[in-house]
Amino acid sequence: MKNKCYIRGFGAFVPEKVLTNFDLEKMVDTSDEWIRTRTGIEQRHIVAEGQSTSDLTTQAAKAAITDAKMNREELSHILVATCTPDAYCPNTACITEDKLGLKGLMALDLSAACSGFVYGLKLASSLAQTEENANILLCGGESMSSRINWEDRNTCVLFGDGAGAVVISATPTEDSTTIVDIELSSDGSLCELLTIRGGGSSLPYKVGQPVPEEHFVMMQGREVFKHAVRSMVGVCNTIMERNGLSADDIDILIPHQANMRIIEAVGKKLSIDSERVYVNVNKVGNTSAASIPIALGQAKAAGILEPGKNILLTTFGGGFTWGAALLRT
Ligand code: ACO
Repeated sequence: MKNKCYIRGFGAFVPEKVLTNFDLEKMVDTSDEWIRTRTGIEQRHIVAEGQSTSDLTTQAAKAAITDAKMNREELSHILVATCTPDAYCPNTACITEDKLGLKGLMALDLSAACSGFVYGLKLASSLAQTEENANILLCGGESMSSRINWEDRNTCVLFGDGAGAVVISATPTEDSTTIVDIELSSDGSLCELLTIRGGGSSLPYKVGQPVPEEHFVMMQGREVFKHAVRSMVGVCNTIMERNGLSADDIDILIPHQANMRIIEAVGKKLSIDSERVYVNVNKVGNTSAASIPIALGQAKAAGILEPGKNILLTTFGGGFTWGAALLRT
């Protein structure tokens, strides 16, 4: 990227309620053993009744603003990556703005399924480069549980709720993280492999109509698996090569936390050993656009993002969309 941008603060938030694999055993024909061996997931967090995506993004935002040692009044833009917004209108960014007690910001939702946060990094960086004094709050937040068919064992075991946030600006601080480079891609011809169609203009609701299964996540798991590994490995190689880095130069790989087997396959194909691959999918499940910012927020809080590290993020999601970002702490 021509001019660099900087992440000044990280934050993560997951709702209190935990749904374990043993809880799921009571809901669908599944087992803790099946879920753990196929996905690595042991539990996920789920919103409480009345809690929505904006409640999660607001909490993650507060943590990121505190980490950035800023006042929330210094923010100029709020971007929220989500495929489970509070509503089609108003957008979740405006609701987050209001819950933070702010007014007058550019507030925009963006949708690229699980890749939304990394897509948002590019958008936020572009904005920060054109608006010198911008302080951009970028959140990834999801209440996947609202779009899960809890009778479908193929999908309901995979997802969880949560949010992560970062504050981005064009000015570095003593301990800011540099956004070195971002590479994004997509292939819309594969869009049918992973959908949440119901309620969209291609499948509108009618008053009194029962909710169809298309309202919820539908996925061809094996196909998604194959494309996810191939695409994430490809885009990581592209960005490493462009920046003159080899796998040995990557201190921490943070892949989209979809599934432990996908994470392991990506690490192995990139020759990045498991000690350098960040994993929290066992505790939070697949939180879609919140996945990478939750991982970043938790890694920062755990002291893993020490100065002088090369961090490689990579993502894949519905659309299909995918991408990678190189950060330097
Ligand atoms: N519990 C028990 N059995 C199950 C469950 C379950 N929760 N779900 C499926 N099964 C059964 C299937 O019905 C099937 O039974 P059958 O052989 O009698 O028909 C059997 O298990 C095997 O099913 P497969 O789909 O072949 O299982 P697979 O090994 O492919 O694992 C999984 C399924 C975990 C979904 C895998 O394909 C996967 O990880 N795909 C990636 C998808 C993903 O992570 N998507 C997340 C969203 S996209 C993203 O974030 C990148």
